[in-house]
Amino acid sequence: MSCIDEHSYLTLCNLLSDQIALSLPPDKVYLAEARLQNLARQHTHGDINALIEKASTVADDALRTELVEAMAINETYFFRDPILSQSFLDTMVPALLEKRRRDKTLRIWSAACSTGQEAYSVAMLLDQHFPQLKEWEVTLIASDFSQSALNKAQQGCYGLNEMNRGLPARNMALYFEQQGLDWQAKPAIRERISFQKINLVREWPDSLPVFDIVLLRNVLLYFSMEDRQRVLARVRKHTANDGYLLLGSTESLEKTAGFVPAIPGNHRPFYQPA
Ligand SMILES: C[S@@+](CC[C@H](N)C(=O)[O-])C[C@H]1O[C@@H](n2cnc3c(N)ncnc32)[C@H](O)[C@@H]1O
Repeated sequence: MSCIDEHSYLTLCNLLSDQIALSLPPDKVYLAEARLQNLARQHTHGDINALIEKASTVADDALRTELVEAMAINETYFFRDPILSQSFLDTMVPALLEKRRRDKTLRIWSAACSTGQEAYSVAMLLDQHFPQLKEWEVTLIASDFSQSALNKAQQGCYGLNEMNRGLPARNMALYFEQQGLDWQAKPAIRERISFQKINLVREWPDSLPVFDIVLLRNVLLYFSMEDRQRVLARVRKHTANDGYLLLGSTESLEKTAGFVPAIPGNHRPFYQPA
């Protein structure tokens, strides 16, 4: 395996920042080497520096996409941190059921959904705890820039290790069926989610609605401050004035972001428009 030289690492950092706003710290060379090995074997005889050079200079969008997707941090699991379930069940959905009782519409966006566990967790929570929503028009959009992550999300097919990360046994039996060694979400739950390719730092589809709940979890922490602010300003425009924004459990927002904690004085990652 080749090592990444300083020039190539800088090129890689610039490429990732430009394509997906990923701000790669200087000490992650080993990560890049591990992530790009396979791709380098396929395209540049194992030479990672040549791979980076090729992906960044040649008009080869497919290779560039493959490289950027290989570097993305896709870590996710079902019901990731209980705050999500708790705030959904106790506060957000009950409040929205009341506020939207005339229109009977609810719109939720999992805005960096990775391989889909977050969106399926939301779909399962709604199904189990709010049966009245069966009569509502519920839109649940799950998006990511990464087509390979989205493909997996759309299939809803997970290995046992992934199933064992956060998914209660009862939900496994209720919402999934075994397919060989894997488990696949049943069509009834998969069909509730609409998967879309959206890069948060590129054009968003004109059809993207205003949402009641936006989950923007564990993605902004990889962005520079400027990119965070830019994305949050756009997210604000797609969040209903009485809607909610959910970040990851270790994330928080600056005061200037256009959102305030949903429960005053409570710094859980749970916000409302200011
Ligand atoms: C660490 S995962 C978080 C997944 C899920 N939200 C969670 O909290 O479990 C971060 C996801 O953000 C996606 N991502 C990174 N940059 C992005 C961008 N510019 N636009 C859209 N998605 C992006 C990655 O592909 C990855 O799937």
